[in-house]
Amino acid sequence: MAGLRRLEYRGYDSAGVAVLADGGLAAARKAGKLVNLEKELAARPLPSGTTGIGHTRWATHGGPTDANAHPHLDNAGQVAVVHNGIIENFAGLRAELAERGHELRSETDTEVVAHLLAEEFSATADLAEAMRLVCRRLEGAFTLVAAHAGEPDVVVGARRNSPLVVGVGEGEAFLASDVAAFIAHTRSAIELGQDQVVELRRDGVTVTGFDGRPAEVRSYHVDWDASAAEKGGYDYFMLKEIAEQPKAVADTLLGRIDASGALTLDEVRIPASELREVDKVVIVACGTAFHAGLIAKYAIEHWTRIPCEVELASEFRYRDPILDSRSLVIAISQSGETMDTLMALRHAREQGSKVLAICNTNGSTIPRESDAVLYTHAGPEVAVASTKAFLTQLVACYLVALYLGQVRGTKWGDEIRAVVRDLAQISGAVERVLETMGPVRELARSLADKDTVLFLGRHVGYPVALEGALKLKELAYMHAEGFAAGELKHGPIALIEEDLPVVVVVPSPRGRSVLHDKIVSNIQEIRARGARTIVIAEEGDETVVPYADHLVRIPVTPVLLSPLVATVPLQVFACELATARGNEVDQPRNLAKSVTVE
Ligand code: G6P
Repeated sequence: MAGLRRLEYRGYDSAGVAVLADGGLAAARKAGKLVNLEKELAARPLPSGTTGIGHTRWATHGGPTDANAHPHLDNAGQVAVVHNGIIENFAGLRAELAERGHELRSETDTEVVAHLLAEEFSATADLAEAMRLVCRRLEGAFTLVAAHAGEPDVVVGARRNSPLVVGVGEGEAFLASDVAAFIAHTRSAIELGQDQVVELRRDGVTVTGFDGRPAEVRSYHVDWDASAAEKGGYDYFMLKEIAEQPKAVADTLLGRIDASGALTLDEVRIPASELREVDKVVIVACGTAFHAGLIAKYAIEHWTRIPCEVELASEFRYRDPILDSRSLVIAISQSGETMDTLMALRHAREQGSKVLAICNTNGSTIPRESDAVLYTHAGPEVAVASTKAFLTQLVACYLVALYLGQVRGTKWGDEIRAVVRDLAQISGAVERVLETMGPVRELARSLADKDTVLFLGRHVGYPVALEGALKLKELAYMHAEGFAAGELKHGPIALIEEDLPVVVVVPSPRGRSVLHDKIVSNIQEIRARGARTIVIAEEGDETVVPYADHLVRIPVTPVLLSPLVATVPLQVFACELATARGNEVDQPRNLAKSVTVE
């Protein structure tokens, strides 16, 4: 149960367990959060055993009901299976099974696997072999884990595209979608490759391909410890993760300047000669990571003069993008498992492009399938709404942009070091923002009964506005939209009505002062039409004061880096508003942190 709790962020609409005991197999399943399963187990305990499987679900086929919850069993109740992903050819398999007399009792794609495993096991009496035979018949993306009463000391796992990691302890072994589930027991892990089956026994672990050939096993040490994934005194993981941002930002910058003063990104194994040839950068990502990409574009183009496109990973490959060996594709993903992003990077590599991953999860699929990776050092992010991962993704993007500038000679060494020094100041600036969030929380609570909040920004403040709106949608379930402030007069201004809260991210009056002046006019325009203005502006910017119903100050920061501080009040705002509305901050309805289906 502790392991499942750690994985609940991946899906939390139903849960179940199965345990091998007394020569048989016993299972319990419950719709709703894990706590419902806990209650069920307290009321009707399962026999105790030391071999078992469990699952938390994010529904794809069939709603979140008890009957659709995993594990799924065959008709004889001998084999239990849990599954992440989608089995695309399940309808055909289901019809075939029904014809052979199997009775299917759920609406899931998963259940067919239990029945197929039962058939193959009765022929082979070997669960791993049965799994290999079944996997060869499946299409789609899946992680499967199964146990059979006929092999009471064995658990078998299989993976194609969805994640699965093995934890190797002393006299014990674990399988999970993410190391967080077993980190309290062992830090020694094995990466499973695509199309592999793993068999866990008391005395060890065997990995083969779906074809039965022994596979090479790559072990690694997990450097997170269990306490990093605990709430540490905060009510919610999200609050803890917001508070961890100064450290996460600083950690992501560690060790990036070498003795000669040059920027070093050791993990980026794409040769400098190839980076000099790059004539286009394409960033692909989803959700909050996409917003990090939108901001990165400003820095990449400004510092390197290479054209940069940013695209939602889910749209990318379907429009036949123009890519070749001179395109550098940057895939940004906290989890490293987002299926849309993975598919986008595979498409890019098929076209001969180099892929650089910016990722927070060591050993996950996206960095493993990329040509190079720059890890963010945010530590485990558990709350579904991304906060510290976002800030560190931004830092990583700035580092990549500077590195490209360095190898291509579009930035001088001292210019690069100056930006890195500015980046080093950000940790303290975020700290200061966090210390002054009392009024933002109060304001958020006062808006709990509103239906709509709009967010406006210009330049790098525009993606910040999008991110502020996304956070509010995800957490507070409110209608929230982000707009480019200049676009206001072309449509969105029609939405403004009396007392409508509008958050405006104001660019610094230094540097691009033209933009600043324009946005000050925008604020006046909406205020004249009744909007209640919530203005986020740099310390010392006095021009906005007369037009701000609420003023939130952020420290003076170089323009391109300003999203690192401007986003923080919006995270706090959304978190507090969600709490005031009685929502579950860490696990918003319908969402999952890591979406491993397309
Ligand atoms: C999900 C989460 C978002 C996240 C997005 C991308 O939709 O709910 O918070 O931004 O996935 O996740 P990734 O792990 O690829 O950064």
